[in-house]
This record gives sequence, C-alpha cells and structure tokens, in this order.
Amino acid sequence: MRSIAIINQKGGVGKTTTAVNLSAALADAGKRVCVIDLDPQAHASLHLGLVVSDDDLSVYDVMTGETPLAKVRRQVAESLWLIPAHLNLAAAETDLAERVRRESILRDKLAVDETQFDFLLIDCPPSLGLLTLNALVAVNEVFLPMQPHFLALHGLSKLLQTIEAVSQRLNPELQLSGIVFCMYETGTRLAEEVSGDVRAFFAAPQSADSPWENVKAFKTRVRRNIRLAEAPSFGQSIFQYAHNSHGAEDYQQLAREVLAQSYINPNVPVVHVA
Ligand SMILES: Nc1ncnc2c1ncn2[C@@H]1O[C@H](COP(=O)(O)OP(=O)(O)O)[C@@H](O)[C@H]1O
Ligand SMILES: [Mg+2]
Repeated sequence: MRSIAIINQKGGVGKTTTAVNLSAALADAGKRVCVIDLDPQAHASLHLGLVVSDDDLSVYDVMTGETPLAKVRRQVAESLWLIPAHLNLAAAETDLAERVRRESILRDKLAVDETQFDFLLIDCPPSLGLLTLNALVAVNEVFLPMQPHFLALHGLSKLLQTIEAVSQRLNPELQLSGIVFCMYETGTRLAEEVSGDVRAFFAAPQSADSPWENVKAFKTRVRRNIRLAEAPSFGQSIFQYAHNSHGAEDYQQLAREVLAQSYINPNVPVVHVA
C-alpha cells in the first residue's frame, strides 16, 4: 500500500481538492483507496458527500478513544472509502496533550487495521500541529500541493524541517515524494517562474538520506477551474460533478503520473542488476 499525507501548513492551496479528486481518480482506475479526513473543518468529508452528525463516530473517536478505524470507515463510491471528520476534531490536540506516544496514535491504529487498500491518502489541516504530525508518522510519503504565486516558497523551510525531523526521529520511511501545482494560471509568467523556481529548488543535489531526495514535481499542473471550486458544495468529486472539465482532465492526468511513479523505500537498498 502507498500511504500519502497531503500537507501544506498554508490554507487554501489545494490540499483537500487534491486529496478528494486524486483519490476519486485512483478509485476510478480500479485501485482500492481510503481517504482519512484529518482536518477539523471536515471539508474532505463534505466534498465526498458525507455529513457527519454530532452522534456519528468519526476520526476524533479513533484518535482519542478505543474506536478502531473499521468502525468509522464508510464506503463513499466504488473502490473508495472515507474515515470522516467532524468539527469536534478541533479538540483532539488539547485532549491528547498529556498522552504518551500521542504522535503515533494513527500509526498504531493503522497497524491493527486488517482491511487492505492500494492507497491511503490523508487530508491534513493547515498547520504543523499534532494531527499533521500523526499523519507524518503514519505514512511513507508526503505530497505537497502548492499554488505558484510569489509566496509559494515562503514557509517551505519550516515544512521541510518538520519532515526531516520526523524522518530522523519517528518515521525513517518518510519521504517527500510529490509536488503538485494547484490553481495554476496557464500562460502567466508568474506561474511559470515560480514553478520553475520550485523545480530548481528541489532539483538541487540533496544528501543521499534527505527525505526529499526522490521528490518529483509532477508534470501535471492542476489549472484553475471553477468546476473544481463548485464540486464540493454538491458533495461530489470532479468526475461526478463535471467529468468533461479541465479539472477532471487534470486530476485524471495527475493520477496517471502517480500510478506511474514507483515508490522507492529508502530503507530497502536498490539492487542494480547488470
Ligand atoms: N484548481 C482549482 N481551481 C479553482 N478552484 C480551486 C482549485 N483547487 C482548489 N480550489 C478551491 O480553492 C479553495 C481552497 O482549496 P482547498 O483544496 O480547500 O485548499 P486547502 O485544503 O489547502 O485549504 C477551495 O474553495 C477549492 O474549491
Ligand atoms: Mg483543506
């Protein structure tokens, strides 16, 4: 299974849109996909058509109690499952403040979960707090959605330091494996310049144990497309809402790139056959 956290501590960069529509595209391609909504705003849950009521179990109960993932998981489309969030998740960080191993809760829950998936995608909140930390400890890969405007690189070093610290102390498998340009303004010089800068930044030689040594800035650029902004309020993925749109085209193309990408486990030596 490939497990991917969608992370950027900035809000509004395309995390949820990418988590939902990439998952839907992978599921359409026949992969078994599970989405975990780890953002108290519960946007991914709404986008996937699920409204979690106050009485329903959600990811909050998984994170703070004995509830197993299987008890919360719901099928939302063919080949697509969701661990939904509720606003109460906002209290999790304080509720867990005193707990030992509080950064490994999600990993421990996943370790005892018996259902098999091809992909696990985690939609993270716009912060680098305990919930995001739990995602980073639980997954092997990070995808970083970015909006190519002039502040795109601002705050990146903090994010990279966090990934590096987690990979050194808590999760040696962790790698930043993908950059996704979202809300791309085709034909503007700014978008081209910034995405060029980001590619150059990550193309610079890294030490062999750097968690972003194998990062790929995906060729697919998700164009700004109003259909992508409309789809969440209908509780539908872009493929259900507007399957002929640029948004659908771009996320399908992104899924093809993700499927073609081979995940390289840093802890398994690559054997080169002569
Ligand atoms: N490619 C796009 N074109 C147009 N609107 C988009 C696109 N991607 C995201 N949006 C909209 O921008 C807003 C922020 O995106 P979202 O995915 O929720 O970001 P985040 O999860 O990082 O906060 C949402 O209203 C979303 O519908
Ligand atoms: Mg979001």
